[in-house]
Amino acid sequence: MYQFDVETGSKAELYRDLLAAVDALTADERDGIANMANVAALLWQYLPDLNWAGFYREVGGELVLGPFQGKAACIRIPFGRGVCGTAAASGETQLVADVHAFPGHIACDADSRSELVVPVRRDGRTVAVIDLDSPRPARFDAEDAAGCEALAALLADRIGG
Ligand code: SME
Repeated sequence: MYQFDVETGSKAELYRDLLAAVDALTADERDGIANMANVAALLWQYLPDLNWAGFYREVGGELVLGPFQGKAACIRIPFGRGVCGTAAASGETQLVADVHAFPGHIACDADSRSELVVPVRRDGRTVAVIDLDSPRPARFDAEDAAGCEALAALLADRIGG
């Protein structure tokens, strides 16, 4: 059994604890799918106000749905399409306060109002993206982006691809 207790503190503390939990769970496991599955569960447990949390992986030049928590989602996303495809193609974090204002946003869950997508990069290419959705407008800020970018850096060599 793995038990991680989420303390209610500052956002910085939340991400520090989340990263420590992710590091502990993924450090000694080489199966990328297993690691993404546990990270999706930890994101869901640690971060409030989410309706979707998980991964899309680069497979054959497009994004394919990976381990996640939330409602069933679209399976394949071309690079350059939607928020996830834009993050994957540009290699840059996409912080979207209002998904309805993002051209080409792909609505997988009609409840989503804001979204944060962070690319996981290895050797100069995007191997996956971390995708967080919230039913709350402007749920994510620069601190969330920085926390998830640190998470992506930690995971780059631990999720296969
Ligand atoms: N909204 C995303 C698609 C993935 S779902 O949110 C899980 C996008 O526009 O890329």
